[in-house]
Amino acid sequence: MERLTGELKILSDEEKDGLDTPRITEDEEGQGKRKLYIESYGCQMNFSDSEIVASILRKEGFVTTSKQEEAELILLNTCSIRDNAEQKVRNRLSTLNASKRNKPELKIGVLGCMAERLKKKLLEEEKIVDMVVGPDAYRDLPKLIGEVDEGHKAVNVFLSREETYADITPVRLGTNGVTAFISIMRGCDNMCSFCVVPYTRGRERSRDPHTIVQEAKDLFDKGYREVTLLGQNVDSYKWQNENGETETNFAQLLAKVGDVNPDLRVRFSTSHPKDITDDVLYTMKKYENVCNYIHLPAQSGSSRVLDLMNRTYDREWYLNKIDRIRTILGEECGISHDMIAGFCTETEEDHQDTLSLMDYVQFDYGYMFYYSERPGTPAAKKYADDIDLETKKRRLSEIIEKQRNHSLLRNEKAIGQVQKVLVEGFSKRSEDFLQGRNDQNKVVIFPKEQYQKGEYVLVRIEECTAATLKGKAVSMELV
Ligand code: SAH
Ligand code: SF4
Ligand code: F3S
Repeated sequence: MERLTGELKILSDEEKDGLDTPRITEDEEGQGKRKLYIESYGCQMNFSDSEIVASILRKEGFVTTSKQEEAELILLNTCSIRDNAEQKVRNRLSTLNASKRNKPELKIGVLGCMAERLKKKLLEEEKIVDMVVGPDAYRDLPKLIGEVDEGHKAVNVFLSREETYADITPVRLGTNGVTAFISIMRGCDNMCSFCVVPYTRGRERSRDPHTIVQEAKDLFDKGYREVTLLGQNVDSYKWQNENGETETNFAQLLAKVGDVNPDLRVRFSTSHPKDITDDVLYTMKKYENVCNYIHLPAQSGSSRVLDLMNRTYDREWYLNKIDRIRTILGEECGISHDMIAGFCTETEEDHQDTLSLMDYVQFDYGYMFYYSERPGTPAAKKYADDIDLETKKRRLSEIIEKQRNHSLLRNEKAIGQVQKVLVEGFSKRSEDFLQGRNDQNKVVIFPKEQYQKGEYVLVRIEECTAATLKGKAVSMELV
């Protein structure tokens, strides 16, 4: 059973393994080099950043390891999005305390959003931390590690208006060799009142499209068959020439990456309802390899609450976007959401509006949370966190229950269909089965037979749960 509180998506068994366990990443090269152990928390951007950090430190003679006890340097790439995300890291730091007592030469660094939010305070609050480095300061890591080696504490939390790490080729960590993330922009200029990201990630900036396309090409040449373009708000991607004219918008970038190879699937995340355009939807329609799936966070179904959240759209606008998606891309397009239960002043009626919005859309899946006040955000300054925890949890569980029903309904529609699945590896439960994803980003399990990781396989869907589709490969001639 999934938990009913905190962060939650209806997860397949295959995905559940990753929940709550930070991803640990390694490469096995480099005997005798300094050993680095990185743990990443939070969103995909953070995982992607850890790959940039590994790349920067590899040049400095470090090699990543999955065995914490071997490491000389432990880096935690942290998340601040909700209080429980920070608690997880604090608990982790206290368990690391014991390791450090037995091994005084061990150095510990905190990277990412918690480093940025707490800055020097983190060194005072968590005595075992040697180094605090914000998301735009990773190029400075070699120098900072040098300071730590000399016995000092080191901090760099400078936020940049330009840094995109465009020239750094990430070291792919913990990879399945089939799917990879490409960061296309950093930061966020929206000011959703509940959200800490603009403070931890700084101003929005887009990465040079040539470097993005090149990275996609390199990945394809190495055998990867799917890339996900990452940004907090990908639809506002904008690359300008020296005269400040927009040369490439997101729809155009999507087309450029789509052109890399018809066998390279392209996904993207996250779309903001205020910015996603018909142009993007038409590009998705035109390119068979740009996947039919959109993550479109709603946050609430109540226009009054959306206004307090400063999402800059209302319920009608959101539903109109859903209608556009369905008109242009058809019922088949997968749509997922993020939803927050119990935001400041949320009434029972507002909550019902969220549930009825879900009924209208029938999302394929969702990431659902109860509101966690974040210090320094506009909501924390302006509004009381006035919904009691029990009510937040009850509303969240109603949202989750509804989502479970919708996920099941949507999955049942797939039964009998033949779907193109990109194989990512063995099913977690058995090596007799393979696991991959369909166009709509849903996990599909089927008997292995002669098929391999990295292949596209046509699978006839035979059964499902709310989280997983199951079927059997069909040969091309039968379709
Ligand atoms: N850029 C993305 C979201 C990034 S954060 C977007 O705009 O959609 C991922 C999700 O965490 C958000 O969509 C929101 O649902 C949730 N979230 C953010 N701040 C939160 C908070 N203070 N409490 C609870 N959930 C929060
Ligand atoms: Fe946060 Fe809003 Fe930016 Fe998303 S768009 S990262 S929710 S401020
Ligand atoms: Fe967390 Fe920072 Fe991502 S707050 S969700 S790691 S941008």
